Amino acid sequence: MEQDSRELDARYYMPAFSRTIKIVRGEGSRVWDDRGREYIDCVAGIAVCSTGHCHPKVVRAICDQARQLIHCSNLYYVPNQAELAERLVEITGLAKAFFSNSGAEANEGAIKLARIRTGRNKFVAFTHGFHGRTCGSLAITHKPAIREPFEPLSPPCTFVDYGDLDALAEAVDEDTAGVFVEPIQGEAGVLIPPDGFLQGIREICDDSGALMIVDEVQTGMGRTGRWFAFQHTGVTPDIVTIAKGLASGFPIGALVAREGLEFRKGEHGSTFAGGPVACAAALATIGVIEGVLPEVPRKGEIFMKGLAAHNPRGRGLMIGIPVGDRCPEVQQTCAENGVLVNCAADGNLRLIPPLVITDEEIETAVGVIDAALG
Ligand SMILES: Cc1ncc(COP(=O)(O)O)c(C=O)c1O
Repeated sequence: MEQDSRELDARYYMPAFSRTIKIVRGEGSRVWDDRGREYIDCVAGIAVCSTGHCHPKVVRAICDQARQLIHCSNLYYVPNQAELAERLVEITGLAKAFFSNSGAEANEGAIKLARIRTGRNKFVAFTHGFHGRTCGSLAITHKPAIREPFEPLSPPCTFVDYGDLDALAEAVDEDTAGVFVEPIQGEAGVLIPPDGFLQGIREICDDSGALMIVDEVQTGMGRTGRWFAFQHTGVTPDIVTIAKGLASGFPIGALVAREGLEFRKGEHGSTFAGGPVACAAALATIGVIEGVLPEVPRKGEIFMKGLAAHNPRGRGLMIGIPVGDRCPEVQQTCAENGVLVNCAADGNLRLIPPLVITDEEIETAVGVIDAALG
């Protein structure tokens, strides 16, 4: 049976991923594979399952809404959609939201919004930054190995070193529609910029009329101990993009923009985006995160202290450890000992567990990771 599904995958599914484990069940911060092995999940579907796996409140919200109405399209007012937009406006401090189905699509929307409202076409983004795999979001994603095979891409984008405000000031000009930045770079392996970086970007954008677009797809929804990582800095962006942790694994993304920055009739749309079930899942998720958010910094500290010998860096429950070439081997050893961790770029081990992970689970995970790191 287990062999069958792997064979089917090899035969019928395009081989874009490399994977060995098949996860078949999840509850809280634990998952089980098809061989019945249990793991503490410090990957959480890549920072998605913020409320843990199958949180009862999220499951109930999804089931209740699915019994009422699964889809109606944006031709009509959609149940839960305005309520979710209101919640996102409250937690971002911005003015209006628009939904998508993923993080890449949220960034596509932000590209379109920035272009149409500024009347400009160029973007600036940062080295090692990741914003998605659709053509537009790939154009602002730095990693040459995934971007270059698809060039030429649009919109035109200049990349400057993450953290280098002088280079940014040089790159931004009167044709720049927006600057895209991750407040902490996730796919790059949890890279934290120097203090004052977001403030500096804000000033450069204010001086030039470019929009400051903060990609919180990975850092948002409580991951770093605040609703959004930009909230550690006192800076207010023009646009924030959100996805991953927004609905506990039910696909949805969003952009939220400041007052006066909005799509007008016919400028953007999507068949599925902001559907009733996705919005119900997101509303329930926000309710759960509200309860656990105050605990996130303390839980992050347990990881940081327990792994201090390995030079961890991070904020809240988003932690990176520089491991180097041994990273895949460490990932495998951890899995063999019942803990899922993830190798991000450049040999950086990434820990992005559910926000509901318990102290005991953290202690167990830290023991396994510490031993695997040696
Ligand atoms: C910062 C950031 N932006 C955008 C994306 C793309 O999101 P999605 O995979 O939902 O399209 C990711 C995914 O890892 C991300 O980490």
